[in-house]
Amino acid sequence: MLPISLLYFALTLYFLPYLCYANTELTVLMDIKASLDPDNRQLMSWTESGDPCSGLFIGVACNEQLKVANITLPGRGLTGKVPGSIAGLKRLSGLYLHYNSLTGEIPKEISGLTELSELYLNVNNLTGEIPAKIGNMTSLKVVELSNNQLTGHIPRTLGGLAMLQRLDLSFNRLGGPIPASIAKLSQLKFLDVQNNTLSGFVPTGKPTSNKPYVQIPVNCIRHHIRLHYALAWTSHIT
Ligand SMILES: *[C@@H]1O[C@H](CO)[C@@H](O)[C@H](O)[C@H]1NC(C)=O
Ligand SMILES: *[C@@H]1O[C@H](CO)[C@@H](O)[C@H](O)[C@H]1NC(C)=O
Ligand SMILES: *[C@@H]1O[C@H](CO)[C@@H](O)[C@H](O)[C@H]1NC(C)=O
Ligand SMILES: *[C@@H]1O[C@H](CO)[C@@H](O)[C@H](O)[C@H]1NC(C)=O
Repeated sequence: MLPISLLYFALTLYFLPYLCYANTELTVLMDIKASLDPDNRQLMSWTESGDPCSGLFIGVACNEQLKVANITLPGRGLTGKVPGSIAGLKRLSGLYLHYNSLTGEIPKEISGLTELSELYLNVNNLTGEIPAKIGNMTSLKVVELSNNQLTGHIPRTLGGLAMLQRLDLSFNRLGGPIPASIAKLSQLKFLDVQNNTLSGFVPTGKPTSNKPYVQIPVNCIRHHIRLHYALAWTSHIT
């Protein structure tokens, strides 16, 4: 017969992952809070003994499986860095942290959020480069990074975001060319890259009857490129 202690051990091992899993998202939220609201002024309702899906955690919405689905905290006076641990919120579909005073880099771990559909980090003080691994976030429909201090090149990997509809990188310090891969984004309806120090042309892909070939030199338009990709998009520009 199996000794009781061994049975107990086996049972513990069996249930341990579930116990841990239940607490993981709360741990991540507390980590986010420690980073973005160290003085506990905005996120007082996020407590270690609370339930993120109770509806009491300000800005947190859960899905039917009781996983955090949206974090909505625009204009809340948040500071500090977005922690890489945010990737632990595996079911996150919307991250709305615009109009705050976030600093530091966009953590490359964010690429683990493969169900994220809307990323709003615009109007903050984010620095560093846009992580190339953003190309792994294949659910992304909206990427709003305008009005930060992002540097480096626009990553070529953005061209892999097949569902992307809106890409706003305006008012940053991005340099180099707009990668040709952008032309692959067949769903893209809005692209704004104004007020950076980009060079070259706006890539438009191969000409078709709907999309005649145009070459728009980034420099000619200077800091003002606002393209509305649509069937008739060329008429907007020319
Ligand atoms: C998350 O936000 C999206 C977009 O606003 C919305 O459609 C969805 O219903 C939200 N999900 C939850 C669980 O609140
Ligand atoms: C960014 O930092 C600058 C300089 O510290 C500050 O003046 C500005 O208000 C900040 N912007 C945001 C959105 O926090
Ligand atoms: C993430 O993207 C990199 C290249 O950018 C690729 O090598 C890697 O396989 C991708 N990972 C997943 C899980 O898709
Ligand atoms: C572009 O940004 C710079 C620096 O932030 C600013 O001085 C300039 O006025 C902006 N240009 C336009 C056209 O908005």
